[in-house]
This record gives sequence, C-alpha cells and structure tokens, in this order.
Amino acid sequence: MSSRSAQRPGHRTTTRNAQAIYPFIAAGGLGGRGVFIGRDSSGGAFCYDPWVLYADGVLDDPNAIVLGKLGQGKSALVKTLLWRMLLFGRRAFVLDVKREYGPLCDAAGVRPISLQPGGGVRLNPLASRPEEHAQLELLRAVTVTALGAPLTQIEAAALREALRTIRGASAAEPTLPAIAAVLFQPPVEMARALRCTPEALAGDVRRAALALQDLCEGPLKGMFDGPTTPGLDLDARLLVLDLHAVRDSPAVGILMACATAWMSAVLARESDKPGRERLINVADESWKIVQHTGLGEWFQSNFKLARQFGVMNLVVLHKLADLQAAGDAGSRAARIAEGLIADASTTVVYHQDESQVPLTRSLLGLSESEAELISMLSAGQALWRVGRRSFVVQHYRSRLEAELTNTDTGMSVTGGRLLRHGR
Ligand SMILES: Nc1ncnc2c1ncn2[C@@H]1O[C@H](COP(=O)(O)OP(=O)(O)OP(=O)(O)O)[C@@H](O)[C@H]1O
Ligand SMILES: [Mg+2]
Repeated sequence: MSSRSAQRPGHRTTTRNAQAIYPFIAAGGLGGRGVFIGRDSSGGAFCYDPWVLYADGVLDDPNAIVLGKLGQGKSALVKTLLWRMLLFGRRAFVLDVKREYGPLCDAAGVRPISLQPGGGVRLNPLASRPEEHAQLELLRAVTVTALGAPLTQIEAAALREALRTIRGASAAEPTLPAIAAVLFQPPVEMARALRCTPEALAGDVRRAALALQDLCEGPLKGMFDGPTTPGLDLDARLLVLDLHAVRDSPAVGILMACATAWMSAVLARESDKPGRERLINVADESWKIVQHTGLGEWFQSNFKLARQFGVMNLVVLHKLADLQAAGDAGSRAARIAEGLIADASTTVVYHQDESQVPLTRSLLGLSESEAELISMLSAGQALWRVGRRSFVVQHYRSRLEAELTNTDTGMSVTGGRLLRHGR
C-alpha cells in the first residue's frame, strides 16, 4: 500500500452502509439449508440451521448465545427463529420471564403455561420421569434449591430412602408433601436401611423436611405440592413456561430444575425414535432470575443435555459480564462463563456499548474490525460468529412476524388475533 493511500482522509458513513465495506468480516453465506434469517453484508440470503452445520462439521455443537444491549431485536430474532423452525418440525421449550411469548404461542396455536401463586396451575416436579434415579436426581435438586444450601450426606441418603418408601407404598406418583411427611416421621424400615433409629433420623433430616414443607405450604402453596394439573400439554411442540409472576421469588430456581427435568424426560422418551424432532431450549433473559441460584450450573446441565441429545440451547444475554457476575463470585463463576462460551459455537452479537467491547472481544476472540463493528451496529443487525466464520446479518421479519415480535406496545401481554400455521 502506498503511503498516499495510507493517508487517505477519513470517510463518514452510516453503519447500514458501512456493513458492506467490512472485507475482514464479511464472508459468503452458509448455504441455503436451514431457515432464512435475513441478508448478510454481501446482500445474499443468510440461512441457518445448527444441526445441519453440526453435521457438516462447521459447528462443534448446536448451542448459541445471543448478546446485545436493550431493545436491539434479540428476542425478535429468537421468536422468528422458533416460528420458522416450528414449520420444519422442530420443537421448542421457552422460559419466558418478560411475558412476551404470548403472541407467538397464539400464532402457533398453543397456550403458555403461566405459573403464579394461586394461579391454578400445579406442576409435580417428581412426576416428569418415571425412573427412580431420575426422580431422585430431581428431588435432590429441588431440595437443594429450597434449602439454599448443599445437602448433607444423611439428607441425600434420606431423600433416596424416602422416595423408595413412597414408591413402594403406592402406585400413585410421589409428591413433595408425601416426601416431607416421611422425612418428619421416618418409618422404622427406612431408619434401619440407614442404620439409625427413626428419632435420630428425623432429627438429622429435619432441616430438609422443613424446607420441603415450606415449599408446599409457604408462599408457593399450590404450585408444586401435588399431581400436575390435568390438561396441560407438556409435550406441545412449543412449550412456553411463563415465569413472569414468580421472577423474583425463590420458586424460580425450582422451576428451572423442573424445566430441565421435563426437557430431559421428553428427550429421553424420544431418544430411541428414529427421526425424532429436534428441540430448541430457549432461556430469554433468564440470567436475571437465576443469578442467585446457580445460573452457571443450570446452563451447564443443559449444555450437557445438548451433547447427549442434540438439543440447541439458545441463551439470551445483555452482555457477557452478566454471565461472569452470575452465581458465586470469583474465578469459579468466570470459569463456568468461559466454559459456556466455549460450548456455544454460535454467537450472535447485537449492538454493545463501548464499555463492554473489550470483554466481549477477549471472551469471544473477536478481531479488531469485529470489535470495532459491534458498537456501531444498528437495531436488527448483528455480527454472527458461526464456528470460525463471521457474518454481518440484517435480520428480516415478515409482517406477521413483526406483529409477533413487537415488544413496543401492550401486545406482549394482551396478545392479538393472529394467523396460525396451516391456516
Ligand atoms: N429485525 C428488526 N427490524 C426492525 N425492528 C426490529 C427488528 N427486530 C426487532 N425489532 C423491534 O425492536 C424492538 C425491540 O425488540 P426486542 O424486544 O426483540 O429487543 P431485545 O433486544 O430482546 O430487547 P430487551 O433487551 O429489552 O429484551 C421491538 O419492538 C421490535 O419490533
Ligand atoms: Mg428481549
């Protein structure tokens, strides 16, 4: 390059136009397979399907992190992605904290499951899977969340024996109040299995019994304390759990445990079926509500499921610093965050404030021009990092999709009359 061209005066342009002159970022599209997302900087159609790309060796996993500051179109991207993927027979499971997936449910002809104290919807966390080991895993997870502390050895063992006692006594599904009752007054055989007296055992596990009792009779009464409300379609192709009413309560951690349990139950049931439907597991803004209940661990277990069953985890965040700040402070949380980023081969970065650019750059390994770009993106426009390739993509919505994804009006709460698939 001549010194003259190196000294060429600066050029002002809008980010909309500037996207076309990023030669170090723009690459040809990913091919035509998958759902249409929008246009890349070359003007070509940008299509995406994590399973196709995984099978082709472009991606190491089907997981994705969507990142960006307020109101950039992150949720709109997720909703249109789901809407378009549902048409191809994919299934989706969504934790909806802001109560904004109603219109999408409406359009897909399903009803969100809205959890609120006294709301009439009850979920039995222990009924999601019939196998004893799966129920025990969940019972322990729920108890840990209810206690807000790890289990002692005797508590962990007593939960196992209590579950066995209840499963052995009746064919009905085990419930949390039944477990609490057995822990308060352990039968002789159960104490014998643990080599102690019923009185000593009751004393040792009283803390866990009280925590489960409080879950069933305290402010969350009616939500987890009996068989699941009949008529809920937990196997719907779009299952949205509306957590808006409980977003600030301790119930959320338990719901997260239940949610993961259902998902693994559905997956385990389907895993032997040839040509089973692929599942997308969406946590939109969930970092907000689970940051005190071990977000990192929750995501880690989901990502583990992803490897086992090929689920696509789609995690929406404002900034990567939220992941680092989540869970217990210090290097452990930072390591978990780095692990999650390493396990998400697709990152979609919407506009980031200047202050977030250095961290985003270092955690995602962005080039200098990519780092510069992310504070210049306009709404609906994102840097897609797909494996080792990068694209600047303008997300497109149809008129119907614009209605489904509009979060500026009261629509997200009231819903609207929308067309459905197949109509
Ligand atoms: N591709 C797009 N083109 C034009 N407008 C868009 C696009 N995507 C979203 N919008 C509009 O931008 C607004 C914000 O979108 P959305 O709620 O998806 O943002 P968000 O990034 O999820 O925000 P938050 O961080 O608050 O959750 C919506 O009203 C939506 O209609
Ligand atoms: Mg959003």
